Amino acid sequence: MSETKKVFIKTYGCQMNVYDSERMTDTLAPLGWIEAPSAEEADLVILNTCHIREKASEKVYSELGRMRVLKSEKAERGEKLLVGVAGCVAQAEGREIARRAPVVDMVFGPQSYHHLPDLLTRTGNGARVVETEFPVEDKFDHLAPATREKTIARGLTAFLTVQEGCDKFCTFCVVPYTRGVETSRPVDRILAEARRLADAGVREVTLLGQNVNGFHGEGPDGTAWGLGRLCRALAEIPGLDRIRYTTSHPRDMSDDLIAAHRDLPQLMPYLHLPVQSGSDRILAAMNRRHGRDDYLRLIDRIRAARPDMALSGDFIVGFPGETEEDFQATLRIVEEVGYASAFSFKYSARPGTPAAGEADQIAEGVKIERLARLQAAIDAATRAFNLSRLGMTMDVLLEKPGRRPGQLAGRSPWLQAVHLEAPSELLGRIVPVRVEAVAANSLSAALLDPPSRSEPPVSVHGVAQ
Ligand code: 5AD
Ligand code: SF4
Repeated sequence: MSETKKVFIKTYGCQMNVYDSERMTDTLAPLGWIEAPSAEEADLVILNTCHIREKASEKVYSELGRMRVLKSEKAERGEKLLVGVAGCVAQAEGREIARRAPVVDMVFGPQSYHHLPDLLTRTGNGARVVETEFPVEDKFDHLAPATREKTIARGLTAFLTVQEGCDKFCTFCVVPYTRGVETSRPVDRILAEARRLADAGVREVTLLGQNVNGFHGEGPDGTAWGLGRLCRALAEIPGLDRIRYTTSHPRDMSDDLIAAHRDLPQLMPYLHLPVQSGSDRILAAMNRRHGRDDYLRLIDRIRAARPDMALSGDFIVGFPGETEEDFQATLRIVEEVGYASAFSFKYSARPGTPAAGEADQIAEGVKIERLARLQAAIDAATRAFNLSRLGMTMDVLLEKPGRRPGQLAGRSPWLQAVHLEAPSELLGRIVPVRVEAVAANSLSAALLDPPSRSEPPVSVHGVAQ
């Protein structure tokens, strides 16, 4: 393909999809595809979809309705539009999407994005293609070397997928079915990608995986490395000053990973560790394989190793059979843990998952009411956490220009957004600040001693200066 073509990728759902969308762009780049700013200006639109809750899947079909209109408008002007559906809805529904939405030219699951060039050739010949196999190969190896070198940072922070899929089979969750069983990437590939990111100016990397702390990638020594050991190796990479990872399961929080939090200043003191419910009865029905006390004791151990550790979580309200008493236990655990932030969702019955077939489904009105109460409790916890930072001195990675001229914005170690007056030369630096005010979703701070001039200049390729 010699002429320039434009692709617009619309991403739904988790950070893993954000990462996958970037890799799709990288895969298409050597074929002359560039990114379009909108679907209207594109020759190819890919919806990278999420299947986790019903609402997320429904969005895809309404967007496909819009694509049908766009495609016929373009056809009237003699222009062509190809439409692809990728990600977890594609994986779960496959041919059903092609049947329900004739506008779709190709459907491909999360394990197939490296086949995109081939899929495009096939659709170019007029075929509609559906590819939702789980290949045994590592899709990450299939980026052409030239492309991989170009897999550069788009800023100072980047995602890096280290693990995919999940074997936990929580009874509400589609992930084991859409992303497949747990697989970890080999350590040398991850370290190579991390080095490339650091060379391109990235200072903070977030390791991604549906069950990231279950990571067990093959190490250079032939043994399986856990996430703690991987973090220790990543911490050796010059320039990579901050390491985060998400999402973790309480059962996989190993002693070594906890010790890594004690030993590595690069490992940020913020942990997304979903508990889903505070009730032992519901946790058992969810097949979480731990109880409320196990979770609280685990947090005690983590905080013993890293006293300033902030916690975040996910909660589901209205799981089948949840009583008011069970829900009260969830409210109590929110209070006991003192979350820095948390996501909460109404239970959504997903086809094919065990809980969807339970008889005692909870009425929508009850779910709405419990969600509102839980969100109020979480908001209060977040406010308390943010207020506890008032007057505190902390390091902030300055990531981008702030809202007002003369301001820069960045993140605290605890992932809070921080705004401060600072000269633009400090973009890309980690600077000490003092928190002066706390708003609902961000902190305002003042720069402390400007960083010493002896600190080597940091390259900030890919950052708008
Ligand atoms: N209904 C509601 N929330 C769900 N989650 C996963 N599956 C469901 C479901 N069927 C939530 C969990 C998970 C987060 C990513 O999405 O809280 O941690
Ligand atoms: Fe889904 Fe997470 Fe449970 Fe795996 S551990 S089944 S991804 S909720």
